[in-house]
Parts: sequence; structure tokens; C-alpha cells
Amino acid sequence: MVTKIIDRCRLPGVWAAVSLFSLWSAGAGAAVDAGELYKKHCAECHNPDRLGAMGPALLPQNLKRLRKPAAARVITTGRPATQMPAFGDKLTGEQIQALVDFVYTPLPEVPRWGMKEIRASHLTPNRPEDLADEPVFKADMENLFIVVELGDHHATLLDGDKFEPIYRFPTRFALHGGPKYGRNGRYVYFASRDGWISKFDIYNLKYVAEVRAGINTRNLAVSADGRYVIAANYLPHNLVVLDADDLQPLKVIPAADDAGHSSRVSAVYTAAPRQSFIAALKDIPEVWEIDYGNRERPFSVRRIRVKDYLDDFFMNQDYTRIVGTSRSGGGQVVDLDSGKAVDSLALPGMPHLSSGITWDYKGRRVLATPNIKEGSVTVIDMQTWDMVKRIETLGPGFFMRSHENSPYAWVDVFFGPNKDAMHVIDKRTLEIVKTLRPAPGKTSAHIEFTKDGSHALLSIWDDDGALIVYDAKTLEEVKRIPMRKPSGKYNVHNKLTRSSGTSH
Ligand code: HEC
Repeated sequence: MVTKIIDRCRLPGVWAAVSLFSLWSAGAGAAVDAGELYKKHCAECHNPDRLGAMGPALLPQNLKRLRKPAAARVITTGRPATQMPAFGDKLTGEQIQALVDFVYTPLPEVPRWGMKEIRASHLTPNRPEDLADEPVFKADMENLFIVVELGDHHATLLDGDKFEPIYRFPTRFALHGGPKYGRNGRYVYFASRDGWISKFDIYNLKYVAEVRAGINTRNLAVSADGRYVIAANYLPHNLVVLDADDLQPLKVIPAADDAGHSSRVSAVYTAAPRQSFIAALKDIPEVWEIDYGNRERPFSVRRIRVKDYLDDFFMNQDYTRIVGTSRSGGGQVVDLDSGKAVDSLALPGMPHLSSGITWDYKGRRVLATPNIKEGSVTVIDMQTWDMVKRIETLGPGFFMRSHENSPYAWVDVFFGPNKDAMHVIDKRTLEIVKTLRPAPGKTSAHIEFTKDGSHALLSIWDDDGALIVYDAKTLEEVKRIPMRKPSGKYNVHNKLTRSSGTSH
């Protein structure tokens, strides 16, 4: 499979850039030909054009979460228990540094990954006729969790009543954006950083289809009718619609404005009542609505022009409004039906709006969101869009969660010296009632509730991490299960019913 992919994605033009780069680095005084070194030592596993094969893609867009010194360490010492070898005894420090600079240099042009390449990547590891129509284990199928363990690229299927792992299985390298359920929770779809979309059959505990929909992918969404999967890509600049049954590609939608300026796609969401997908664009001031219910013109794009780039936003429960922040700091409320901005609001602190949640507070609906740039939670009245309260926290947060049956909202302190803290806020008083520090010194993050809201599951975001189960009423720890950087957990019921306490 590796050689097939390498052959398939050889790009004309990139080799020219490789030698240009070598000339440049030679000219800069380093007598190291990074392109040649790459070809000799790395291309076999990472693809000649760095698009990834058996090993992950080595492009600046894909390496964002890995700092350069960490990349140098990986190349020098390898990664234990993986196929990434150590080069410390084969290459000099200078050569390794040249390779690091090389893999963080953008390709001269956006790599081609169109219908042909997507189709050719398609895999069907198990055939539907060989699979049972009943689950091969016993559990409340609506109260299952998928826990993504980024530490060693695995996922765990967890029984949400007993808090016991049912099955642990490998995933593609670096999952991104949260898995999504289809068809009443029988199937779960994953997107990986490098563009692989995988469909896993929970009944049979087996993958049934995979396809590489992009080179650098942000997330995926599944249509409410379970027929389609759509992937949002940074590389290339597009959205890709797949048949949810077998993941065959149906349509590639290039992301560009009328003048032809292309854009990365930040994220895509399902707007169930509208029978559409909503896409956030990074580089053009538009929000797109992609209609999947219209059989005459399937996947037609409606462009909603907005005042500024809205690459992170919140959608209200009935999907009539989106609330987004602009890069300059102000917020806007856009009515999806009219396609017009209907209000503006003050949102300092860079809220993480796609993690926003809502509840009823003193007879009105409020939206609460953590902030990425300041230690606070912002609570906003959803009728007037005025700020109801700014709740001070111990540092910037990333995820906020609650449940219809719980009086509490949980918010992490994701950044800074207090990253090991987790605040519990009383939704009735908007006060912090408890601050937990379940593993001092290690990041605690990302809550998800059980189906009935009786328990809250927390992640210790560390390679030597854990999943911690709390009684959601007493806030006491019930169980701790060791896991490898469990980045997120996703409850079948809460996700499929679009609980107002979680993101969708
Ligand atoms: C035999 C196959 C193989 C070869 C040869 C190889 N790699 Fe890797 N590399 C991998 C695999 C597999 C991983 C993913 C390891 C993991 O699961 O963390 C990886 C990971 C990496 C990473 C970390 C990526 C990330 O996002 O965390 C870097 C950087 C890297 N390789 C660079 C190189 C360079 C530079 C070379 C050549 C000097 C090279 N690799 C040669 C297989 C290989």
C-alpha cells in the first residue's frame, strides 16, 4: 500500500522546489543538501513530496502542534514503539537541523488531491456481508463513549454505565476535530490530521471503510439523515462530500470567493433542522451553507457574506443564528435565513465559541463560552446579546460542558500555570462552586457527561494520563482509568440528540 500511495502522489514541480531549496541552503553557508537527505532517508515512509504514506505528512500545516526542537528530537532519537527510526547515529546535528527546516518549509504550491487521488485511496477493510446486524457485546448502546487517545493513536470504546473499556483499537495518526456518529450510533467516523476519514462499525468492532479526503484536514460532519459525510480541509482548499455508506467521494467543493481567491476551511458542522452543512472559512469573509436535502441541486453552496473572517462560531440550538468573533475582536450575530448580520456584541478575550454551551438562567437563555486569551468565562443573554456576567477563572480555557440534568457547568483551565485546574460553575448563580485539581501538574481538560447526566468524565491530557469519572452531583471522584493522552470523549446519546450541554 505504501508504494502505491507514493507512486500516486508524486507531484511534478515539487522536485524542482526541492533542488531550489538545496541551492538556497547551500548558499546560506550550510553545505547540507536537505532535499537529497530527505530523498535518501525519509521519502520511503513520508512520501517523496512529504504528503505522508506509512509515516505522517511532513508539511508545516500538519506539523503545527510539534515545535521545531521536538521535531529535531524525534529525528535524532526516533519514536519508541513506532516505526519512526532514530537517525542520531547516521546524520550529524547539522544535517538533522537542515531536515527540520526542510519539513517546515511550505510546498511551492497547494498539493493536488482531487477526485482521482481521493478515489484511488479508498479502502474497504471489511465487507458488509461478513458483518453482523447486532452488537457483538452487551451494553446500553446509547450510553457508549468513544475516547480518543492521542498519545499512541488509539480509541477506546467505553461502557458508560459500568465505566469499563469494551474495546481499544488503533486509529490513523493524529485524529482531529472529534469523531461523529451516524445511523443511530452504530457507526462512528473519524478524521485524521493527514486527511484520512475512517468509518468504524461499533456493532462489530471493525473498520469498514477508509478514504484519504485531503492532505491536511480539520474535521468532519455527518448529515442528520446519515447519508453523507463531509470533510473540511486546509490542504487542499476545499470540502469533500463522501457517501456515508462506503466513503466513496461524491463531490469536491473548492473553497474560493467569486474573484477566485481560495481559502482554507476551518470547520464544518451539521445543521440538522436545515438539512445543510455550515462551513467556516479561514481566509475569506464568508460562511457557507451546503444543502444536502435538495435532490435537484445536491450540495449547492449558499454564500453568506459576513463583515469579517468567522473561522470559529457558535450556532444556536435551532440553527437560525450564528455568533462569531472577528479577528479584530468584535462579535457579530448572523441570521442564517436572511444571510444578514442582525446584531453585534462585545466579545473580548477571544472566546472559543464552538465550545459554547447554553442553558436557562433566570428565565432567559444564556450562552457561556471560555476564552482563549484571558482567564474568564463570558455569559451572554441570547435575546439581547448583552453580557450577563464575566466569570473570572484561573486562566484561559478551551472546553466547556454541561448537561440538561445537571446544575453545573464545567470549564477547564487549558493554558498557563493552572492548567491542572478544572472549575465547576453553578448554572443558577454563575459562581464557581468548586475547583478540582485531579492530577497536580498535568493538564485536566474536556468534560463529557453520561447519557443521563449523572456522571462527568474528565481527561488528564498527558501521555501518562487518565480518564476520571466524577459523580456529577457530589463532585466526588468515582473511578480513574489510565489512558494515553485521552484528548476527547464523545457520548453517543448526547451527540446524537445534540444536547445543549455539549458541542456538536
Ligand atoms: C521506516 C519508516 C520511517 C522513516 C524511514 C522515517 N520516518 Fe519519520 N515517522 C515514521 C512514523 C511511522 C512516524 C509516526 C510515529 C508515531 O506514531 O508517533 C514518524 C514520525 C515522524 C515525525 C513526527 C511527526 C509528528 O507529527 O509528530 C517527524 C518530524 C519525522 N517522522 C521525520 C522524519 C525524517 C526527517 C525522516 C528522515 C530522516 C524520517 N522521519 C524517516 C516513519 C518513518
